[in-house]
Amino acid sequence: MRWMVTGAQGMLGKDLVPRLEAEGHDVVAVDVDELDITRPDAVAGVTDVDVLVNCAAYTAVDAAEENEGRAFAINAVGPQLLARAARACGARLVQISTDYVFAGNGTSPYAADEVIAPLSAYGRTKAAGEWAVRAETDDHLIIRTAWLYGAQGACFPKTMARLAAEKPRLQVVADQVGQPTWTVDLADLIVRLVAANAPSGTYHGTASGEVSWHGFTQEIVRTLGKDPAMVEPTTSEAFVRPAPRPAYSVLSHDSLRRVGVTPIGEWRERWQVAAPHVLSS
Ligand SMILES: NC(=O)c1ccc[n+]([C@@H]2O[C@H](COP(=O)([O-])OP(=O)(O)OC[C@H]3O[C@@H](n4cnc5c(N)ncnc54)[C@H](OP(=O)(O)O)[C@@H]3O)[C@@H](O)[C@H]2O)c1
Repeated sequence: MRWMVTGAQGMLGKDLVPRLEAEGHDVVAVDVDELDITRPDAVAGVTDVDVLVNCAAYTAVDAAEENEGRAFAINAVGPQLLARAARACGARLVQISTDYVFAGNGTSPYAADEVIAPLSAYGRTKAAGEWAVRAETDDHLIIRTAWLYGAQGACFPKTMARLAAEKPRLQVVADQVGQPTWTVDLADLIVRLVAANAPSGTYHGTASGEVSWHGFTQEIVRTLGKDPAMVEPTTSEAFVRPAPRPAYSVLSHDSLRRVGVTPIGEWRERWQVAAPHVLSS
């Protein structure tokens, strides 16, 4: 099977491409220098592909508040053009989306078909990308992920590990809850969903269970052999950032189970497997 991965130099793309190559797939890996997904002429040239995975995105959540136009071009127009190209060449499009499409004021895991209500510019642009994909091609998998970390990019666990080495105490928000998800696990889920020939639709690609940023940081610190008590809880109110964050970002995996695809395992167990890879890079 011939795959194309856009945004291949990003944190997810860098783990997805070797995974596909290891399975013997023919993979065309491109990033903005080879294929700028916002350029209609360039994207229209995409042909001879069976599965097109869009890992390209504008992911600077806070900067997007000031640059929504640019974020929209990459997160919404880009996926629209890719979906159009995928339809034209008979490829299946896999679009990676985010928990930020939800308002995060829920109290039970968000179902894949729950009404979206993004709080931030980044969330609005990613939501628009989802709608564009659904409108342009019937052959799509929209996979929402969240709290992504990996060896190949700047990510929360690496930042916390650095800070834990520099400071005696860390203060981390305890009122935002989500599902820390390893890029390797998301790459695996993408491969499994495609292999299962899952029906077109929206799925949640996050680890199981839930934890706050504070709880996750305690686990990271524990992995480093330090005392988790050095991580103190704080609130979002005390740690204001330009873009609002959803408080409750827990995604349900029911749509995966319905198509017979096993969700990613529990976040703590997956972190223990991931930590040596992520923290050594
Ligand atoms: N990271 C998270 O916590 C998180 C959470 C939820 C969902 N997601 C979603 O997961 C996906 C993968 O995220 P990631 O963390 O791997 O992102 P990433 O590391 O920021 O990678 C995105 C890649 O896309 C490239 N890109 C930017 N503009 C482009 C364009 N116009 N054409 C082609 N490529 C372009 C970027 O290049 P430059 O670096 O040069 O800009 C980068 O290599 C994204 O859809 C993201 O929205 C991520």
